[in-house]
Amino acid sequence: MEVRYKDVNLEKIATDLLVVPVHDSPLQDPLVGRFDRLLNGKLREHIRKAKFMGAEATTLLQSMNGSGGAGHILLAGLGKSGETTLDTWRKIAARATKEAGGLGADEVAFYLSQGSEPAPTAAAIVEGTLFASYQFSKYRSENRAAPGLKTLSFARPGLKRTAALDQAVGWAQELVRGVFLARDLVNEPPSVTTASYLGEQALLHCRGRNLSVEVWNKKKIQAMNLAGLLAVNRGSTDEPRFIVIHYRPAGKIKKKIAVIGKGITFDSGGLSLKPAKSMETMKLDMSGAAAIIGAMSVIDRLSPPVEVLAYIPCTDNLPSGSAQKPGDIIRYLNGKTAEVVNTDAEGRLILADGLALAVKQKPDCMINLATLTGACMVALGQEIAGVFGNNQPLVETVMHSAREAGEKVWQLPLAKEYRDDIRSSVADIKNVGGSHGGAITAALFLHEFVDNIPWVHLDMAGPAFAEKETPLCPKGGTGFGVRTLLKFFSTFQ
Ligand code: BES
Ligand code: MN
Ligand code: ZN
Repeated sequence: MEVRYKDVNLEKIATDLLVVPVHDSPLQDPLVGRFDRLLNGKLREHIRKAKFMGAEATTLLQSMNGSGGAGHILLAGLGKSGETTLDTWRKIAARATKEAGGLGADEVAFYLSQGSEPAPTAAAIVEGTLFASYQFSKYRSENRAAPGLKTLSFARPGLKRTAALDQAVGWAQELVRGVFLARDLVNEPPSVTTASYLGEQALLHCRGRNLSVEVWNKKKIQAMNLAGLLAVNRGSTDEPRFIVIHYRPAGKIKKKIAVIGKGITFDSGGLSLKPAKSMETMKLDMSGAAAIIGAMSVIDRLSPPVEVLAYIPCTDNLPSGSAQKPGDIIRYLNGKTAEVVNTDAEGRLILADGLALAVKQKPDCMINLATLTGACMVALGQEIAGVFGNNQPLVETVMHSAREAGEKVWQLPLAKEYRDDIRSSVADIKNVGGSHGGAITAALFLHEFVDNIPWVHLDMAGPAFAEKETPLCPKGGTGFGVRTLLKFFSTFQ
């Protein structure tokens, strides 16, 4: 998609569809007044009839009937002034892209209103436009994909292309590539996205001057003593993989960050088998891994001044005669032992390997991303990820990054009071707590492996996968986490 900047008068702009953002009293809006005059009062009449109030991300399409340069205008609601966020712009852009598709237009112009900061606003509009065009259609015999926009223009009298605009827009385009890769990886059927496939994809996509990828096979995993990954993999006929992606920028390094992602390519629960209904979407269980691979696939283009070590344990979780059993005990490379009470609490078992390994590299901080617990989804729903951490400033930096990136997160307590819930009678800890506070006891299990290093755990079981279609994402993998990670990396400029 080409992005252009136009220094023009809005009545004159030659475009198929001109998006005109308006606040919550559109009838009083001076821009609306100008187009209404061109249309001899038809626009205000339309607004009244349609009861269009300019509510956030609502739109009203109006044909210009040959008056003015635009074929159609789309009034787009910003909601109450002062309450407009970057996400408002993303949603408006997504709606506009859909409308353009309906009109058969491959070009849209956006009025970049004076009040908003141009660079972040333009970036959000680019994101929304591109997100709206995402389709996973390779398995459909008829390709129903609307071909996205060819050209997106920003227009305003006096608008100039600046370095800041170029950088923000370029960033957004890279970000979207990373998100799309994560969505693709999640959307692939689970018998395609095996552990070895994830390894191949990491090798394929995470290329760059400052990047290196290693994919460890079972032999190497055994040699490295990644006992949790081996235990979970025991029921499978597919080998596990452990992916290590290393980004080391050329210039001065401000921080060394370890990221660890859950790569369960299919979670049946293992011998603690899930009911059929709960298994239907369990190809999503490698979304943490996908988010990291997606982010690392574009990191070199964004070149944040941080070293990043990504550790991604991958396997499916299946029952069989060789599967691990409830009651088994895992001895981790740091000496800790864990009783496996429920084989469906497998994510924490493989993440523990990643954390224990990361700790040995003495990173400044660690972040793990995982579709870890249904309990977190019960607490926060499908749009908000849970955040846990042992270091409040780091938690706040990550939450700030998420907010800026347009991903929703909410902090939950790493409540030491519940530490006793994961006490085992035969090992140091056990992998499940009682019937309450499941997201917290999962976080406490992970915390056993972080050795006082500042650490944040994102439980993204809810937002990793969309069960409802939205303008920004069809059903399926959302690519949640990619944007937060990249924003976080770039906060250390
Ligand atoms: N992968 C699931 C968590 C999950 C549930 C992700 C729903 C996305 C949507 C995880 O491995 C799991 O099975 N957790 C169990 C833990 C329990 C056995 C303590 C759960 O949440 O039920
Ligand atoms: Mn599970
Ligand atoms: Zn799982």
